[in-house]
Amino acid sequence: MNLEAALEEIGKAPTLESLQGLKVQYLGKNGLLTQEMKTLGRLAPEERREKGRVLNEWKEALEKALEAREAWLREQALQERLLQESLDVSLPGYAFPSGGLHITSLILQELVGIFRKQGFSVVEGPEVESEFFNFDAINMPEWHPARDMQDTFWVTFDPGPGFTIRGPFGESVNSLGGAVLRTHTSGMQIRYMIQHTPPFRIVVPGRVFRYEQTDASHEAMFHQLEGLVVGPDITMADLKGAISELARGLFGEEGKARFQPTYFPFVEPGVQFAMWWPERQKWLELGGAGMVHPYLFKAVDDYREQQGLPRAYEGMTGWAFGMGVERLALLRYGIPDIRYFYQNRLSFLRQFRG
Ligand code: PHE
Repeated sequence: MNLEAALEEIGKAPTLESLQGLKVQYLGKNGLLTQEMKTLGRLAPEERREKGRVLNEWKEALEKALEAREAWLREQALQERLLQESLDVSLPGYAFPSGGLHITSLILQELVGIFRKQGFSVVEGPEVESEFFNFDAINMPEWHPARDMQDTFWVTFDPGPGFTIRGPFGESVNSLGGAVLRTHTSGMQIRYMIQHTPPFRIVVPGRVFRYEQTDASHEAMFHQLEGLVVGPDITMADLKGAISELARGLFGEEGKARFQPTYFPFVEPGVQFAMWWPERQKWLELGGAGMVHPYLFKAVDDYREQQGLPRAYEGMTGWAFGMGVERLALLRYGIPDIRYFYQNRLSFLRQFRG
């Protein structure tokens, strides 16, 4: 066998498999070198020693060459893999879709923000309300025709033991009529007044429900923002001022408010209000308002007395308003259908991300 040729062949082996083949070819059980080793036995001692020494050198040389080539081939394979698997950090990554606030939340935040700046507190009330707070206590007794203005979801199911509608002091108000999904946020006027003494100013954002056939301008669930200010000398001028301020907050310095007389059982006098939208030169009908009806103050004081609290509303005056939150969004953005709000289609909602 020719050592030079063998070493060269090993040095050029292109793959680990071919290298393994060469190893077998030379050093395997029937390898060329192994066969030469086997011939040693037939030689004279002098010759055998000499040839044995040479063959051992060859063996070492071959083993070293095999090892070196194997190391080189492995290194080569590693480099190749690293090259293939390397991350290209300059590639754009996957964008994770980020969440955003719902259009209703955005409008509510904007509205509440305008009132906060004027010193109003923000309070919330229950969505399942007693008939008493939703209707009776705000001057809409059972026989009152105005109850027909608000188609009502009556909660007639048996809620099971332990379920009661509770008043502001945690007392059960089940004795005060049935339960409803509140048709407006006005019941919160009573709840708040029972627990607090004037003067105060609050706004009440919240979800309300009407038992209605839905269409482009009606939804069974929507949102209102209620306002209530009570004190010793509160007048209709204060109401006009507050709604005008709201108009300016929403539509800029040229925003203004317009009142037209109307009827709500819980205010006297009552108005519906519109706001001037300078950009479009249009009046937007946005809600109802008025001076708190004395009946409400009496109902509150009677309730307080029942709870052992002093009467607190004699000699007080106040105003209240209620407006539709979706309605403002519909008008301002020209949204053609109120049902879009709660169908939860991202293609619609994404347009209003804050
Ligand atoms: N609660 C009335 C409604 O839902 C709005 C309103 C609130 C009117 C307060 C006057 C005062 O239609």
